[in-house]
Amino acid sequence: MSHQKKYTWYKIADAVELLQWQSNNICIIEINNQKVTISKYNDQLFACAHKCPHAGGIMSNGFIDASGNIVCPIHRYKFDLKSGRNVSGEGYYLKIYPIEYKPDGIYIGFEEKGFLNWL
Ligand code: FES
Repeated sequence: MSHQKKYTWYKIADAVELLQWQSNNICIIEINNQKVTISKYNDQLFACAHKCPHAGGIMSNGFIDASGNIVCPIHRYKFDLKSGRNVSGEGYYLKIYPIEYKPDGIYIGFEEKGFLNWL
């Protein structure tokens, strides 16, 4: 049974070039006291968790490989930027967030949590 996810959208920048990119094409943003990793690959943006699901490596200190995976700096597990799938096969899942381009800027979606989820 699939459940329609609801998102709250938060603006992260007016334009891609206004984000504070590191030389590895990754940057960190902070929404509601929560850090999120933003990656740039083939002129597209992807958002994922700040820390690696394996042992908490800081994903923004890793790198993006030629196939569009983000590689954790600690043990080099790889995660598909689009799906969060652990493509190096260790069985973890990196949380990802949707990105949307709206006329006034770039937004990231956080899943809504609330009483509606309990119904
Ligand atoms: S902490 Fe990321 S691969 Fe181990």
